[in-house]
Amino acid sequence: MSKQENSPAALPDEVVQELDAIAQSATHAIDEAQDASALEAARVLTLGMKGSVTRLFERIPTLDKSLRRAFGQRANALRAQIEAHHAARKSALEREALERELSGPKIDVTLPGRRAALGHRHPVSRTLDDIAAIFLKLGFDIAEGPEVELDDYNFEALNIPADHPARDMQDTFWIAPQSLGADEAALAGKTAILRTHTSPVQIRTMLSQPPPVRIIAPGKVYRCDSDVTHTPMFHQVEGLLVDRGVTFAELKGTLDAFVQALFGSATRTRFRPSYFPFTEPSAEIDISCVHCGGAGCRICKQTGWLEILGAGMVHPNVFRAVNYDPGEVSGFAFGLGVERIAMLRYGVDDLRSFFENDARFLEQF
Ligand code: PHE
Repeated sequence: MSKQENSPAALPDEVVQELDAIAQSATHAIDEAQDASALEAARVLTLGMKGSVTRLFERIPTLDKSLRRAFGQRANALRAQIEAHHAARKSALEREALERELSGPKIDVTLPGRRAALGHRHPVSRTLDDIAAIFLKLGFDIAEGPEVELDDYNFEALNIPADHPARDMQDTFWIAPQSLGADEAALAGKTAILRTHTSPVQIRTMLSQPPPVRIIAPGKVYRCDSDVTHTPMFHQVEGLLVDRGVTFAELKGTLDAFVQALFGSATRTRFRPSYFPFTEPSAEIDISCVHCGGAGCRICKQTGWLEILGAGMVHPNVFRAVNYDPGEVSGFAFGLGVERIAMLRYGVDDLRSFFENDARFLEQF
């Protein structure tokens, strides 16, 4: 029985051969493809719209009627065969790719991860927070004032008139008063500066409330100064306590409690007479050296003592400037330098290094 039995006419040999050749080269193109994109290119060349297999169907209308059916059947079979071959090659390539991935370099899930670099608070901020925490425990509130301050509050109201020699020690940066933001009229004849100390916050606080007052005022201050122990900007913590019958004993007790909380219970204080225009009497307060305990060392320059604070009893003129009655109330004030304390705590000998933003320095704390 012949193959062509059901067909009206057998395809001529050369057509059969041509179809076989097309099938062979399509199969070959698919086998040659080594990856997904090469396989896709082979598919376009064979099964695509203009591909060698697809184009066979365009020939049907041009053939002798008696051959069309047989040719169509063969072309269909050929297309089905190439499609199946393409699908098989496709899944073979996918399997190969997966295997390559699985047998490639392994991920060691037991390796410790890379740590993200964590920042931390600046040693000056930490010192400032620790100082504030101690005073909060002692019952003080936190008050704040602007860094651009009126001359009136920074000097005048603190009993430092324009011609007072104490101004020389606090030379600073002068600012156009308009930058304070208040209305023109209120600022007429006023002078603004970068505050040289946190003491103007004493004035602002007392102007804003009646006694009693119990505040600390931490913040940045500015002076025309730069050497190993001075930077043009540094931090202070101001303290002010006003009430009826406050004496120097309360000042001593408060500062003793403070230095012992900060530097340890063995720390002793020493009050030396001093001068500030806004306190009377005034004192400079030393603590026993945190390094040698008072025996004398390099840190305390063999004296056994370190100076950390200025303080005194609020001057009656300061009370008058804020309309408090010096016959009714009394109080004490103090001011301390935060960097100075941070230097002592962390053993830093150049104050400027706090503000150079060198990570190698800051990472040590
Ligand atoms: N304001 C003073 C200074 O900066 C410190 C101080 C504050 C002294 C309060 C006495 C009372 O030097």
